[in-house]
Amino acid sequence: MSEKPTIYKGLEGIYVYETAISYIDGFNSRLYYRGYRIEDLAEHGSYEETVYLLWYGRLPTRRELKDFKGNLRENMELPPPVIEVIKKIPKDTHPMEALRTVVSYLGNFDPGRFDMSLEGMFRKAIRLTAKFPTIIAAIARARQGKEIIDPDPRLGLAENFLYMLNGERPPELWARAMDVSNILYAEHGMNASAFATLVVGSTLSDYYSAIVAGIGALRGPLHGGANELAMRQFIEIGDPDKVEEWFEKARAAKRRIMGMGHRVYKSYDPRARIFKKYAKMFADSVGGDLKRYYEVAERLEEVALAKLAEKRIFTNVDYWSGIVYMGMGIPLDFYTPLFAMARVAGWSAHLFEYVAQNRLIRPRAYYVGELDKEYIPLEQRG
Ligand SMILES: CC(C)(COP(=O)(O)OP(=O)(O)OC[C@H]1O[C@@H](n2cnc3c(N)ncnc32)[C@H](O)[C@@H]1OP(=O)(O)O)[C@@H](O)C(=O)NCCC(=O)NCCS
Repeated sequence: MSEKPTIYKGLEGIYVYETAISYIDGFNSRLYYRGYRIEDLAEHGSYEETVYLLWYGRLPTRRELKDFKGNLRENMELPPPVIEVIKKIPKDTHPMEALRTVVSYLGNFDPGRFDMSLEGMFRKAIRLTAKFPTIIAAIARARQGKEIIDPDPRLGLAENFLYMLNGERPPELWARAMDVSNILYAEHGMNASAFATLVVGSTLSDYYSAIVAGIGALRGPLHGGANELAMRQFIEIGDPDKVEEWFEKARAAKRRIMGMGHRVYKSYDPRARIFKKYAKMFADSVGGDLKRYYEVAERLEEVALAKLAEKRIFTNVDYWSGIVYMGMGIPLDFYTPLFAMARVAGWSAHLFEYVAQNRLIRPRAYYVGELDKEYIPLEQRG
């Protein structure tokens, strides 16, 4: 057997290709999309503009953005058979599973689904980025036995999502918060779900299968599933005065604090800082339970950082987003789908970039089992 190679568990520290999409400076709380600081994009930009930036590598002109938005708008509706499938999904299905099912089914309606040329993938990326809000809102409404609402072509993706979810145009703060959420979650380099999409994309399978793989990877509690679980943890604690006791018990039980820690950030995640600002706005304006959960989260952050910062564990993007979503009345199990709704743009950007310089992703696993064992026929095995 060959000499034992170095094994990089979890592929930590391994670079799989060169990218110009986003850059994380994990020690200095910095995130850049195509060279632009996330703070600037969240302050001044829109999700549609961000998607354009991620895909084309530069900010659009006013005219280009208008055309791009128009293109997205034309692709927001779902084929009627897809709506029928959404209505048939069992009510106890987690919305991430429902999303995975629907995206997979939707692929069957795209005659160009096997076209992995840049142009072909681009067309599909427009379709899916435009349809994700429609799909997720439809899953939510169908589960409540409510009528499914068609997208309003006058509204952007974030506002449209809230409109289709609730049946009325959202207040300005909600629409802006959802747009900012989309910007913050749109892209984040070579994480588990981006890698999953590239593994599938690198076999030149098809775009829908690649995105379905991304959804599957994102769902896990160590990745996008953490935003739902962070909120559940605040609810479980319930009262700011119970934080210390809860934290000590959690540490003793080796429980992880959801929404803290990161493979790359060894400093405060800059996206969490922006979400925290919006979480505070919602806590102050909604009050009641939400305010109490905000206070729990604030106290837990203080206590946890005091103990965990020496291990370079800080707050990540999934810590505060739930407070914002709860402020808009979004059900807890839809928090990770909201992450997916934005991230489909980043997954697509990586597919465009990687497949253009494609090399099949095919790592190795070092074999430590036995060899040359004697095969005993079944009838002699007793
Ligand atoms: C994201 C995450 C998987 C990254 O982990 P990683 O790079 O694999 O780091 P490790 O699992 O090797 O953890 C290193 C140490 O920090 C601890 N740690 C990491 N995250 C922690 C957390 N959220 N709470 C408490 N301890 C944590 C580990 O227990 C480990 O301690 P040890 O060395 O004493 O065993 C991890 O931080 C985590 O599970 N976080 C909670 C889930 C979450 O918020 N995910 C969203 C990420 S955006």
